[in-house]
Amino acid sequence: MSIENKVVVITGASSGIGAATAKLLASKGAQVVLGARREDRLQALADDIGANAHYRVTDVTDQHQVHDLIQSAVDQFGRVDVLYNNAGTMPQGNLSDREYDKWQMMLNVNIMGVLNGIGEVLPMMQQQHDG
Ligand SMILES: NC(=O)c1ccc[n+]([C@@H]2O[C@H](COP(=O)([O-])OP(=O)(O)OC[C@H]3O[C@@H](n4cnc5c(N)ncnc54)[C@H](OP(=O)(O)O)[C@@H]3O)[C@@H](O)[C@H]2O)c1
Repeated sequence: MSIENKVVVITGASSGIGAATAKLLASKGAQVVLGARREDRLQALADDIGANAHYRVTDVTDQHQVHDLIQSAVDQFGRVDVLYNNAGTMPQGNLSDREYDKWQMMLNVNIMGVLNGIGEVLPMMQQQHDG
């Protein structure tokens, strides 16, 4: 199985593992669609990769923004073969500080963000019997 010409949506593509994965897969011929909140980083990465990259500013906690990210992948490249549900956050701190806002944000990104991605691509992947 080859990754060449596969359309790969990567959340959390603005840094770290997501950005590195985008570069690696694009170098192997994949078409990559980059999602994250920091547009300057997404734009720089997309420029670096070239025609095989497309980006859309996306907060994965927002279902509508995830919908728009997936739709933009379909508009740009015709389909979605892979969703790399990579966006995540790992806040550091002491539980005794009871940082409820940070805990909630972590759940929103790491759990709802992942489910928002699955919810958008699953019907399409079921229909195409692949993904
Ligand atoms: N590095 C490790 O050793 C390690 C170990 C275990 C697990 N992980 C997990 O692997 C994933 C990537 O880690 P990393 O080291 O590459 O971390 P990173 O450099 O901090 O990257 C996290 C990415 O997630 C994005 N992100 C955060 N909140 C978001 C939101 N609400 N909507 C959209 N994107 C969001 C960030 O982009 P924006 O800020 O631009 O939105 C960034 O691109 C994370 O899920 C992390 O928890 C990493």
